[in-house]
Amino acid sequence: MGNSGNAFIEMTGITKRFPGVVALSDVSLSVNRGEAVALVGENGAGKSTLMKMLSGLYHPDEGEIRVNGQPARITDPKRAQELGISTIFQEPSLAPHLSAVQNVYLGREVQKGLIGRAVKRLDEKAMLEETQKLYAKFFPTVEDVLVPVGQLGALKNRVIEIVKALSIKCSLVIMDEPTAALAEHERQVLFDFVHMLKSQGIAVIYITHHLRELFGLVDRIVVMRDGKNVAEVGPEDTDEGGLVARMVGRTITNYIVKEDVPVGGEILRVNGLSRRGVLEDVSLHVNRGEIVGLAGLAGAGRTETVRAIVGADKTSSGTVFVDGRKCRIRTPKDAIRCGIGMLPENRKLQGVLIEQDVKDNITLANLKEVLAGNFVIRKNKEVKTAKEYVQRLGVKTPTIYQKVKSLSGGNQQKVILAKWLFTKPQVLIFDEPTQGIDVGAKHEIYRLIADFVKEGGGILLVSSELPELLGLADRIYVMHQGRIVNEFTRAQATEENITLYASGGHES
Ligand SMILES: Nc1ncnc2c1ncn2[C@@H]1O[C@H](COP(=O)(O)OP(=O)(O)OP(=O)(O)O)[C@@H](O)[C@H]1O
Ligand SMILES: [Mg+2]
Repeated sequence: MGNSGNAFIEMTGITKRFPGVVALSDVSLSVNRGEAVALVGENGAGKSTLMKMLSGLYHPDEGEIRVNGQPARITDPKRAQELGISTIFQEPSLAPHLSAVQNVYLGREVQKGLIGRAVKRLDEKAMLEETQKLYAKFFPTVEDVLVPVGQLGALKNRVIEIVKALSIKCSLVIMDEPTAALAEHERQVLFDFVHMLKSQGIAVIYITHHLRELFGLVDRIVVMRDGKNVAEVGPEDTDEGGLVARMVGRTITNYIVKEDVPVGGEILRVNGLSRRGVLEDVSLHVNRGEIVGLAGLAGAGRTETVRAIVGADKTSSGTVFVDGRKCRIRTPKDAIRCGIGMLPENRKLQGVLIEQDVKDNITLANLKEVLAGNFVIRKNKEVKTAKEYVQRLGVKTPTIYQKVKSLSGGNQQKVILAKWLFTKPQVLIFDEPTQGIDVGAKHEIYRLIADFVKEGGGILLVSSELPELLGLADRIYVMHQGRIVNEFTRAQATEENITLYASGGHES
C-alpha cells in the first residue's frame, strides 16, 4: 500500500465543477500495478466523474493526474487507450446496429498482412475467434456474436461491454458498476477476471453498490461522499455496515420488512401467457395491498413475463384482467390506460428522456394530473409535484430544471421511479427497481413501495436480490425455463427453497 514507486495512477487534488454543482473537490486516488481498488459512495458522490477523467471524457478543473509516474493529459478516449486505460462504462456505450465482434474491435480492427504486399486488410476471422473465446467464458453459447447488439437483451449487452474492455491490452481496467445486470454465474466469471488481471500486474478500479462483492475481491476500499474523499480502508478492517456508515455518515439498516396491510380484491390477473420458446402458460395474480415477487435466475422468463403483460412483447396467447375487467393490451400505452405501469429493466432505452429536464420526466407520463382545462399545464402543480418527488427520493440535482442526462446513474433511476409512482396506476410492475441505487435511497424506495400498496395498489416485483424479495413480498412466484414452477407465501419462502426451484433442482 502507498508504495508510490509502484503506482500506475496517481490523482491528486482533483476538482471538477459543473453548472450549479461541485462534483469533485480536492479528491485523491492512487492505484498500484496489480492492485484492485474499490470506489464506493452514494449516488452522486462523484465516482463516475472521477473515472471519466481517466477515460478522457472529462478534464479536471484543478489537480494532477500521473500515469506511470509521469504527469499526463488525458485529452480524449483514444489517449486513455494509448496510456493503457480501459473502461467498462456505467452507461451502455455500444453501437446498437453493429455486432458484438464489430463493437469489440470498433476503431482498432485487427489487420492481417497479405503475403508479398504492403496492403493490409481486416482479419475478420481473428477478430471473431478472439471475441468468441472471451465471450464463451461468460456464455456457453456464442451464436450471438454476429447479430446487431441492439437485438440482444440488456444482460448480453453488458457482457459484450465487459468483453470489449477486457480485450484491450491495458494496464488498468476501470469497472463502473460492472455487475449491475449480471446473473450470479456471470458475476463469478467477472470476479475471476479481476483476480486474473491482478496476477498479470494489471490494476483494477471497481465501482459497485453491491458492497458485499468487495470482500475477497479488492485490496483497498476508497470511500467518497459529496465529491470528497472521506475514508480509505482495507476490506479486512471493515464490513458492509462499516462501509455504509462511512458512505452516508450515519447508520442505516439494510432492508425493511413490509407491514401487513389488509389484502383486498384481485387487482391483476394474468391467465395462460405463452410465447413460443420463451413463456409457457404463465398464470399469476396480485391482490390489492399485496406485493408479489417474481423470482428466478437470469433467463428464466421474468422480464419476458412482465414485458408480455404490458404489451411490450407479442404473445401467442394469454389474457390480462385489471380489477376484474379484461384488458386488450397490445402496447405499453394500452397498459397505462388499463392502469398498469411498469418500471422497465433496461431503463436507458425505455424509461427516460435524457435530453429533457427532471421536472418533465416526472410529470410526463401523467400530464392529466397537472393539466388545467384541456391543454394548459398548471405550472405550479407541476413544479410542486416534481419538487416533492425529488425530495422524497433524495434525487441529487441542483434544480428540477436540470437535464436528466447530467445526473449520476443512480439519480437517473430515481427520476424514472418518481415518474411511475406519479402515474398512480392500480398496478405497478417493477423490474429490478433498486439496481444501481445506493443503500440510503433503497430504503426510501422500499418505503414508497410499501406506501403504494397501503393505499390499495398492487405490486409485481422482479428482483434478483433475494433478501429484497423476502423482505418485501407477501407471496413469491418462482420461474424456471419460462414456466412458473412454484408459489410461496411469505411464511414459506426462504432463500433455500426459492433457489432450489429457481435452479430446477426440484426436478432431479
Ligand atoms: N455532465 C454533467 N453536467 C452536470 N452535472 C454533472 C455532469 N456529470 C456529473 N454531474 C454531477 O456530478 C455529481 C457526481 O456525479 P457522478 O455521476 O460522478 O456520481 P456517481 O458517484 O457516479 O453516482 P452513481 O452511484 O449514481 O452512479 C452529480 O451531482 C451529478 O449530477
Ligand atoms: Mg456513477
